[in-house]
Amino acid sequence: RAVVPPVAAVPAPGAHLGYGKIILLGEHSVVYGHHAIAAPIGLSVRAEVTRGSSASEPVISDWDVDGSVREPIRENISHRVAALITERLGVPAAGMRVDVFSDLPRASGLGASAAFAVAVIRAVAASFDIRISDAAVSRLAFECEQIVHGTPSGIDNTVATFGRPILFRKTDDGRPEISDIVTPQPIPIIIGLSGVSALTSQTVGLVRRAWQRNPRRYDQIFAQIDGLVLAGVDALRRGDIADLGELMNINQGLLNALQVSSPELEELVAIARRAGALGAKLTGGGGGGAMIAVAEPSGTEPIIAAMRGAGYTTYLTEIR
Ligand code: MEV
Repeated sequence: RAVVPPVAAVPAPGAHLGYGKIILLGEHSVVYGHHAIAAPIGLSVRAEVTRGSSASEPVISDWDVDGSVREPIRENISHRVAALITERLGVPAAGMRVDVFSDLPRASGLGASAAFAVAVIRAVAASFDIRISDAAVSRLAFECEQIVHGTPSGIDNTVATFGRPILFRKTDDGRPEISDIVTPQPIPIIIGLSGVSALTSQTVGLVRRAWQRNPRRYDQIFAQIDGLVLAGVDALRRGDIADLGELMNINQGLLNALQVSSPELEELVAIARRAGALGAKLTGGGGGGAMIAVAEPSGTEPIIAAMRGAGYTTYLTEIR
């Protein structure tokens, strides 16, 4: 692949962004119509579109924060996503060059694929002076997620578009039901990367096969997770970090029951709890990828130090 320098190194005003996310409570069960809570994390994907000769093939270049070209995990997928976007927006793909700049780690359950789709939709629309509502961006990004994941719930594209903490549910007819969550004060969240890449499509497939073999058994687990999510909304709205943490711990137990945890995630969860986290769980698809821990604002430092001391990459964000 040709290495071409990025067109711009810093986000310009009016940048075309898609937001990365964490799922606070309710991943996997959300695929089956239950509630989940998700929030943006301050890491995002930005896209720039430039148009050249209509005789040339479209080019997508993916740039890391340090300006190096990122090896796309599955290049054919990003091209299929971009082709769907140009088709739906009714614009030609030929001659288009898309530069994608990301500080979001890939294949880690932090919503990089949805953020990619949202950023590209916004950049392509802007390049052709097409006005597109956020709701329409999210719907199109959902179609893109179907290419990447197969059966997405729609939560990732929603947060990638709106960039706000939300309670989400997919209704029986497939429509998203979304409400905002406002906390009385920011709630610190530490993100830990297991360092093992994981594809959400794989863990979603594993859970689906288990559910198909024994729907009653798994529906009960999903319903239990739904109860934790609804209690979590209440805890967030009250700013009760200890209660939220307990709900996250129980949710981790049930995610473990769904067999989507991993040795590295379990180690990170144990390290965080031992260092004072009030709650810790995997976030997103699992099987690798990322975990999150919650703490009082004064309690984050030892947790970050312990996770880093064990060799893991961490990020600090907050729900606000
Ligand atoms: C992925 O961020 C969350 C999952 O619940 C899948 C989905 O909702 O589409 C695992």
